[in-house]
Amino acid sequence: MEASPRRVEHQLTDKGYVPVYTTAVVEQPWDRYTAEEHGVWATLFERQRQLLEGRACREFLDNQARFGISSTAIPRFDDLNRVLRAGTGWELVGVEGLLPELTFFEHLSHRRFPVTWWIRKPEQLDYIAEPDLFHDLFGHVPLLLNPIFAEYMQRYGQGGVKAHGIGPEALINLTRLYWYTVEFGLIATPEGLRIYGSGIVSSKGESIYCLEHPAPNRLGFGLERVMRTRYRIDTYQKTYFVIDSFEQLFDATQPDFTPIYAKLAASDAVPAGAVLDDDRVFHRGTGEGWADGGDV
Ligand code: PHE
Ligand code: CO
Repeated sequence: MEASPRRVEHQLTDKGYVPVYTTAVVEQPWDRYTAEEHGVWATLFERQRQLLEGRACREFLDNQARFGISSTAIPRFDDLNRVLRAGTGWELVGVEGLLPELTFFEHLSHRRFPVTWWIRKPEQLDYIAEPDLFHDLFGHVPLLLNPIFAEYMQRYGQGGVKAHGIGPEALINLTRLYWYTVEFGLIATPEGLRIYGSGIVSSKGESIYCLEHPAPNRLGFGLERVMRTRYRIDTYQKTYFVIDSFEQLFDATQPDFTPIYAKLAASDAVPAGAVLDDDRVFHRGTGEGWADGGDV
């Protein structure tokens, strides 16, 4: 084990220039987490659990509770894996950070979810540009216990391997689907809109902003609509897409995407903040405070 993450090189990916780490699976160096690192976990865990009651969807909150994690200490991947394997057959593997896309897809296609072993510094509680243990573990792991979502994630991985073989444009379309569902998705419930996206649940500011702020659009999910839409990597999203159920998301993504990729290659992308004529509008954003430019 290295004492700190090993960056291999900076690469241009769909998320801009980001550090890409060694592809190796690493063992979680649990005994070497410091009191300060457990403290960062405790602070973030307490804060988000409170904030997410009434904001995150039931599937997220209830499944997270099944892991028996708490603010006491950074969870051990081995403990979580016992629950996951018994639940849906998923397994966490420790990694140094963001992986090359094909490696990531291959893990997902085998029901392995890569989790960054290191946690952010105390001065990064509110924002960190790259995924750390808190985002990956607190944000992504709970829904892996939901049978439909678990299946969706595996099929996404299989679709990723396929898209990788088709070409970079197909990958961009597929990555937008991940971004607007797995990372930044909202779900409509009888009680109102709720969060299921991991990028939101692991962020204090965006957990509130995505539901309560007048600026962003909240639009009904549509497969091609999402696959055409650019997104933000350095600000809160300008648009959130709302699913009615995980079944809807699953069913919509079952068809072969090959003809969709071909069709989308011939049409323009949609800006992150746009509302189109045939959108189902839950909320039309005021756009206040939006940065110009910078859509990925
Ligand atoms: N159906 C997609 C394809 O043919 C794969 C996929 C399934 C993608 C589920 C996302 C989620 O490529
Ligand atoms: Co993530």
